[in-house]
Amino acid sequence: MAGRVEGKVAFITGAARGQGRSHALRLAQEGADIIAVDVCRPVTDTSAIPASTPDDLAETADLVKGLNRRIVTAEVDVRDFDALKSAVDSGVEQLGRLDIVVANAGIGNGGDTLDKTKESDWDDMIGVNLSGVWKTVKAAVPHLLSGGRGGSIVLTSSVGGLKAYPNTGHYIAAKHGVIGLMRSFAVELGQHSIRVNSVCPTNVNTPMFMNEGTMKLFRPDLENPGPDDMAVVAQLMHVLPVGWVEPVDISNAVLFLASEEARYITGLPVTVDAGSMLK
Ligand SMILES: NC(=O)c1ccc[n+]([C@@H]2O[C@H](COP(=O)([O-])OP(=O)(O)OC[C@H]3O[C@@H](n4cnc5c(N)ncnc54)[C@H](O)[C@@H]3O)[C@@H](O)[C@H]2O)c1
Repeated sequence: MAGRVEGKVAFITGAARGQGRSHALRLAQEGADIIAVDVCRPVTDTSAIPASTPDDLAETADLVKGLNRRIVTAEVDVRDFDALKSAVDSGVEQLGRLDIVVANAGIGNGGDTLDKTKESDWDDMIGVNLSGVWKTVKAAVPHLLSGGRGGSIVLTSSVGGLKAYPNTGHYIAAKHGVIGLMRSFAVELGQHSIRVNSVCPTNVNTPMFMNEGTMKLFRPDLENPGPDDMAVVAQLMHVLPVGWVEPVDISNAVLFLASEEARYITGLPVTVDAGSMLK
């Protein structure tokens, strides 16, 4: 039986680990070849999250190849438009086409109220989580247009792109900006049958969320909190009885948006949030 994105090619940023890797595997399982990029090193100096590595990206490549799909990888910082363009140009040359774009790369840093946020944290955040998304799509659009078959673009926003939390205003601003970008690209590209949507996850079980800093944030009352301690509090954010979702839950939404099943869906922020938006 043909897969849901059989014969298509997907360009994914932040694909070394976490959700980006999961998106690559889920799309490959359903028949897509992959162009995977990631910076594979630290990009900001106030992040509690350990950076991904070249080995992580190589592991994503091995996993995709294990599914009998082709993959082209490159170490690229999404803030660098020329490097993004050359990665996607070379990927399309090798794999023959482009159909799907998943602008997923992102960072967390800082942790202050907006009035105390360092300018460098603001600049890194907007540079990666907002401008990097714009540059990713800008680098890919010429290939979608020249293919003449339309396409599907998915921009990773967040529940934080739809409502605010304290102490991360720069992230909230960037992720709200991603929703604006998504709507603008959707309006501009619709005439070419290119659909543009966002996924808006709640907490996801990746290094960005599942780390010591987050556990301490959720449980300042404990000296060495672990995932179970965090779950008790994280669950209060949701209607469903879970503290976080798994990367594949977001990948399934990305797959749906990328597939023909969503052929008339564009301009939509798709929440995968265990009901967080109801609270
Ligand atoms: N984990 C969560 O709780 C959560 C919730 C909502 C939204 N998100 C968003 O989901 C996306 C994926 O995050 P994740 O949870 O997989 O985190 P993660 O930290 O596991 O993965 C993010 C990946 O993006 C890469 N990256 C970061 N900056 C980059 C840059 N400048 N250029 C290229 N690659 C870069 C990292 O190297 C890493 O491999 C991010 O946009 C994040 O903001 C995450």
